[in-house]
Amino acid sequence: MFFIVNPTGETLATADCYVAPRAKPVAMIANMQHVGVGVIGLGNVGMGTLDVLAENADQIALKLGFRLRVAAVCSRSVHQKTVPEALGPVDRATDWREIVAHPEVDIVAELVGGTSVASDIITGAIAHKKSVVTANKELMAACGSEIWDRAIRAGINLAMEASVAGGIPIHAVLREGISGDRVVALYGILNGTSNYILTEMETRGAPLEEVLTEAQRMGYAEADPSADIDGFDARSKLAILAALAFGEKITPADIFVEGIRRISPMDFQYAHQLGHTIRLICAARQTPDGLILSVRPALIGLKTIIAGVQGAYNAVWVKGRFGEDTFYYGRGAGPLPTGVAVVSDLMRVAREIRYGRPERVSPFAHERLGEYKPLSVTREKCAYYLRFRVEDQPGIIARLAGILAEQHISLEAVLQLPCETKHDLPFVITLEPTYEHAVREAVQKMSNLDFLREPPLALPMEPPL
Ligand SMILES: NC(=O)c1ccc[n+]([C@@H]2O[C@H](COP(=O)([O-])OP(=O)(O)OC[C@H]3O[C@@H](n4cnc5c(N)ncnc54)[C@H](OP(=O)(O)O)[C@@H]3O)[C@@H](O)[C@H]2O)c1
Repeated sequence: MFFIVNPTGETLATADCYVAPRAKPVAMIANMQHVGVGVIGLGNVGMGTLDVLAENADQIALKLGFRLRVAAVCSRSVHQKTVPEALGPVDRATDWREIVAHPEVDIVAELVGGTSVASDIITGAIAHKKSVVTANKELMAACGSEIWDRAIRAGINLAMEASVAGGIPIHAVLREGISGDRVVALYGILNGTSNYILTEMETRGAPLEEVLTEAQRMGYAEADPSADIDGFDARSKLAILAALAFGEKITPADIFVEGIRRISPMDFQYAHQLGHTIRLICAARQTPDGLILSVRPALIGLKTIIAGVQGAYNAVWVKGRFGEDTFYYGRGAGPLPTGVAVVSDLMRVAREIRYGRPERVSPFAHERLGEYKPLSVTREKCAYYLRFRVEDQPGIIARLAGILAEQHISLEAVLQLPCETKHDLPFVITLEPTYEHAVREAVQKMSNLDFLREPPLALPMEPPL
């Protein structure tokens, strides 16, 4: 005997056998009441979202059982934008206030970015009791938890899949897919621009400045590249993911950040000799005392799955106490991959609006499990790579080894690749696993040595992922 129940659990009918309902033809769905969407911001992500909504409208309607209708769009230059004709009549506005107050808009998609106007838009939407879908990592990392609390109090939803790793549905994975597990570590490559630059340096042996200039010319990197190459963009994304994975309130200020500016092609040559490569790694791992969070270039084994992440791709690797390793890979940005993430959020929120089944698992751990307080990265213990550039003279290794010994650090190996000039001679020392605070003190002391052409570069060597 089967019981057919409605979403509130009331039994509607019983039957001896279950006959799967046939999908409703698209024409029938067209007549069903739709859920209205207002899109604010018609740049890369906004236009990608409109394209997906237009080109995939029938599939979306079949999956939902009703249509998503774009009722209104907004950008400062909205009248110069080409809105896909397939969307039908769409109201246009240059003032976002018209969108949040629009009577046919049930969900507001905030795709403007930044922290000022975007914050006003979301506040306005909440005031009008409209649910919000956003791609805004910066705002969500800085004050998403407070916005979430306001949204829940107002009885609306806030969805942000597109804010981290563009086309990889990592939010859904952590919120639902592996929510039964207990995450013990999360590693990610979360900034496509820096990954593109590093992999180009690795394959072509080109210096960072050259690859960055090319990336800017091709539109892969911003005119001001700091957010990407200094690690701040990745840090915002890690703050969002770590909060979700560990059930803790985490802000960007809790995360140590160091960018890729000091990496040079010779570091890849030495890393390869050691069976490693270099990537900007976002790491969050549980220790008995708390969470260690960092975004920085690190050596990772060439045979690890994460070392295969090339170009502008993103990846997230999660280790759970019970389910062990899972790995997620895909495009981290771009109008259409990010547009898919926005549209999938719109569908989830629309389903909730139509069927009244809230799926409000906090992306900001409002229950505050409180077990994983962020700790200083100086309490990290791992092997290190120290790269030096020196004016050659006798006794260099002995002096460096002396400073390491003072900090009780054991040296593992010394590597020197052939080099013609004695005035700018590179070589590498690798260290046995040691605490970061000791490495930092040693590097600080070494920086005053007269034979160094620049302070030593210290990179952690991640254990096999
Ligand atoms: N690009 C990606 O691949 C990607 C991936 C993941 C997440 N994101 C996030 O998605 C968001 C949007 O990024 P994007 O790359 O699409 O940015 P974008 O190309 O710069 O587009 C921003 C849009 O917002 C509009 N806008 C700015 N200020 C406005 C205002 N006061 N009122 C109305 N409209 C305003 C702009 O209007 P005008 O066109 O008139 O200037 C433009 O259409 C950001 O939070 C970003 O971090 C982007």
